[in-house]
Amino acid sequence: MSSFLSSSIGKKLIMSLSGLFLVLFLLVHLILNSFLMFDSTGELFNAGAHFMAMPVIRFGLQPVLFGGFIVHIIYAIILTLQNQKARPQKYASQNLGNSSTWSSRNMFVLGGLVLVFIAMHLMHFFVPIQIQGNVHDDYQLVKNLFTNGSTGLVYTGLYVVGAILLGLHLAHGFWSAFQSIGMSNIIWRARLEKAGYIYAIIISGGFIIIPLYLHFFA
Ligand code: HEM
Repeated sequence: MSSFLSSSIGKKLIMSLSGLFLVLFLLVHLILNSFLMFDSTGELFNAGAHFMAMPVIRFGLQPVLFGGFIVHIIYAIILTLQNQKARPQKYASQNLGNSSTWSSRNMFVLGGLVLVFIAMHLMHFFVPIQIQGNVHDDYQLVKNLFTNGSTGLVYTGLYVVGAILLGLHLAHGFWSAFQSIGMSNIIWRARLEKAGYIYAIIISGGFIIIPLYLHFFA
């Protein structure tokens, strides 16, 4: 078992399973965040945040979530270094455009930039709500970030850029994860590629619309 997990295929499998777990998290996170747009009193969003703060979720699911992130990042580094070692020199004449997408060739960089975004994002909401515990109205905290004068516009822009980077990372990551768990025949590849694009557009589009809505209409 341990030799399988340290093999190339084992590492890809761990990477895929942790990635698919994060895919699910993003969907739940987007659904809860969409409450920010549907109720300007903030009650709906705060009720969702309250639910997520229940001890069973906070102490049961959150460690799994952060563990999933850490495993995904560590294995991304290991696999990238391994691939570079296996092919240290680029081909003399490369024309990869036809056989691979830009996203697929830049997954590591895109993932790194998404990580920078997540670090900033945790400082905005997770730290004051969960670590410092001094927030009584989560909706107001989120709304203030995007509406406070010119800094509100800057953060709106940063969140839009973050969502675009995330979308590009997911566009390739989604079907690549399924491929690594064995669903890679011709028919499934085409279907999963399409599903991956749809998923990426929904997640990215959703996370783009929310800060824009709060900045311009809330
Ligand atoms: C419109 C954009 C977003 C808004 C308004 C938003 C809002 C929030 C809020 C309010 C929290 C704190 C929840 C709590 O601790 O009670 C949170 C946590 C978190 N967010 Fe976001 N988020 C956004 C986008 C994203 C994106 C794009 C990602 C991932 C790439 C992400 C990843 C996380 C993670 C990992 C946590 C910590 C775990 C948790 O508390 O559930 N968020 N977000």
